[in-house]
Amino acid sequence: MRICLVSAEAAPFAKVGGLGDFTTALAQTLSQSGHDVRLFFPFYSGIDRRSHDFGPVDSLQDLEIQMGERLYRFSGMYTWLSGSSLQVYLIDCPELYHRPGIYTEDADEAVRFGFLCRAALDSCQRMEWSPEIVHCNDWHTALLPVYLRTHYAWDELLADVKTVLTLHNVGYQGVFGAEVLSALDLGDRLSYFDDEDLRADRVNFLKTGILHADRLTTVSPTHAEEIQTPEYGMGLDSLLRARSDRLTGILNGVDYGEWNPATDPLIPFNYSAEDLTGKERNKRALLQDLSLPYDPQAPVLGVVSRLVPQKGIQLLAAGVPGLLDPLDLRLVVLGTGEPRFEALFRLLHQQYPRKVSFYNGYSDELAHRIEAGSDLFLMPSLYEPCGLNQMYSLQYGTVPVVRATGGLADSVQPWDPKAGTGTGFLFEEYSEEALLEALHRALNTFRDQPAWHQLMLNGMGQDFSWTKQVKEYEALYRLMLKVDEARSLSED
Ligand code: ADP
Ligand code: GLC
Repeated sequence: MRICLVSAEAAPFAKVGGLGDFTTALAQTLSQSGHDVRLFFPFYSGIDRRSHDFGPVDSLQDLEIQMGERLYRFSGMYTWLSGSSLQVYLIDCPELYHRPGIYTEDADEAVRFGFLCRAALDSCQRMEWSPEIVHCNDWHTALLPVYLRTHYAWDELLADVKTVLTLHNVGYQGVFGAEVLSALDLGDRLSYFDDEDLRADRVNFLKTGILHADRLTTVSPTHAEEIQTPEYGMGLDSLLRARSDRLTGILNGVDYGEWNPATDPLIPFNYSAEDLTGKERNKRALLQDLSLPYDPQAPVLGVVSRLVPQKGIQLLAAGVPGLLDPLDLRLVVLGTGEPRFEALFRLLHQQYPRKVSFYNGYSDELAHRIEAGSDLFLMPSLYEPCGLNQMYSLQYGTVPVVRATGGLADSVQPWDPKAGTGTGFLFEEYSEEALLEALHRALNTFRDQPAWHQLMLNGMGQDFSWTKQVKEYEALYRLMLKVDEARSLSED
């Protein structure tokens, strides 16, 4: 199949969270399965020009796209992912993508990503490449189905394209004042947008994508159910219920090429289920680096997260301090996000300098070292479409303590001490008490070393590889193309 993926993030080039991991891993795995895959994302100024060999795509040089009153110039660059035959395409438009971050609060934020949709489609045209599937992700690329049906409707090359929109996070919808429509060149296409939004003088990118994409997916089966309820739908639940026959939940996979303790170059000591001695040594090294005292009896609790309400940071902040006084444990936090949460962890570190470490920044290396050096990994999320770190944790023999929501519920099985089955500790209710109850269960089990060992091995034996998960995307794409083929045969 010819599959075009368009995304705001693609690891390792441009990543804020799991969207970056998802995009590259899906593209790479589809490509390894023999499909013709092209991945498009912006050439942000933050991408290190020396990190890869970037070359110009001959047919994509000095192109222009008129959007409203403005004429934007861009060129297409390409590079390969190391160790893969997948070619990725970067949309080089300095005017829009040379900014301090991937996402901004600048006045042209809507245009930055509306433009990405158009540049990807223009690039397909210029390369005379006719994708069968265009796979969009989150609000940033959710207008693509509308552009396809309007500005590109004339082009036979794109006439049979089917669109998929994956909802990684319905908490971010791309809502802008309706005045952006003319800058997006969609001012005369109002029928594609929700009436109620237009009456309120706004447009909602994600909602528009949900209305017009041929198929919708989200990143776990449980979350596909959740977003159809008012509690989790963030105002989109009724629309998602109306389109539920088009909505599938597919759990994300893990790139075990990157996240494997036996081969991980970012951790000091490699280890595997057969020989776990390296894990304890990673714990000691991690604590040493963070200036925390090492004690094999004192469990290390790891957190690697965007520090936003979604991740249950309030719960952590409310619950964990009560544990720090009576218990000898270590809390190691890596993250950036809302200043109030950053301040909170900074304060916790000041209060418990020998128990709490907070690295306020983004560090791939430290993320790997925390996965390898922690005993438990905390993800008390308010909502979690999939979540990747709990799956990385399982692979590293680091036991996840998670709220039973979305992909966390789908990837962590409750530890059953009698049967010796299960991979982690779950709690249902979003409350401090429920988190603490789960943490106490986990900490009690930690003291029972044979049980803990079994629990670690259970987790390390799980397989969430993309090669498995990608089959569900292939099946979905095939279904879309087959339905189309069947329709055209019956029309003939
Ligand atoms: P989300 O996409 O909602 O942030 P996921 O669990 O799907 O949550 O993915 C988060 C990804 O981002 C993981 O690969 C995680 O290791 C990484 N990550 C998050 N914060 C940081 C950070 N401060 N430093 C390094 N990696 C981070
Ligand atoms: C989103 C979600 C996260 C998911 C990731 C990749 O950022 O918050 O749960 O794992 O996308 O799909």
